[in-house]
Amino acid sequence: MAERSAPVGVMDSGVGGLSVLAEIQRLLPNETLLYVADCGHVPYGEKSPDYIRERLRRIAGFFHEQGAKAMVLACNTATVAAVADLRELYPLWPLVGMEPAVKPAAAATRSGVVGVLATTGTLQSAKFAALLDRFANDVQVITQPCPGLVERIETGDLFSPALRQLLSSYVQPLLAAGCDTLILGCTHYPFLRPLLAEMVPADVAIIDTGAAVARQLQRLLGAHGLLADGPAGDTRFWTSADPQSLRKILPLLWHKSDSVQSFPL
Ligand code: DGL
Repeated sequence: MAERSAPVGVMDSGVGGLSVLAEIQRLLPNETLLYVADCGHVPYGEKSPDYIRERLRRIAGFFHEQGAKAMVLACNTATVAAVADLRELYPLWPLVGMEPAVKPAAAATRSGVVGVLATTGTLQSAKFAALLDRFANDVQVITQPCPGLVERIETGDLFSPALRQLLSSYVQPLLAAGCDTLILGCTHYPFLRPLLAEMVPADVAIIDTGAAVARQLQRLLGAHGLLADGPAGDTRFWTSADPQSLRKILPLLWHKSDSVQSFPL
């Protein structure tokens, strides 16, 4: 039986999940957080579901060994490929996955046209098709895969001219098609909000799912009687690539650079 003071394991293919980690820490400041960035295998967006499932089994096993009381897949691509598999493997373990915010976007749009920026893997998945079937019958949804964005963000590039050009090539067609609501369906993309704000009219809503994931974690921990009563221990980071690279960009994407270790698998 896990204890309230046990940590929560949070993972992403790389640094994108830090956008979710920040929301979790804001909502649940008493929780001790562990973060695995699978930077040695990023991007997940262009990899096969089998490959991603295998990575997730390793990362989940690692969190389990660390005594994590719950796990958050702070990655849309990992969720569509692997959350069902993990739920089968660990039926009693609280697991939180995430999906593009189609439901709130369909409720919010006034033009009736919604754009989704996400990885190829997420947009091609059966889980995403089911999400559209369920929540997007009355609106037009235009999907836009965004290869190349994640790789740039992974290097700490949030503003270069090349990035601006690439992002604009993905966003402009959506705006031209009348989208008034843009879904950020990949956890890396919230780091592009400042750049997006320069290219998207102010009346276009930009929606991501980080805060909703934090609320879902809160609900789930509460239901299991596992909410920490604090104080939280230090956040610890692991990466499957060179720890030095993550150490270098953490201060840019995270408010402080806590310990970074090598992910053993
Ligand atoms: N951050 C991830 C997501 O939310 C995946 C990025 C990638 O590795 O392609 O989809």
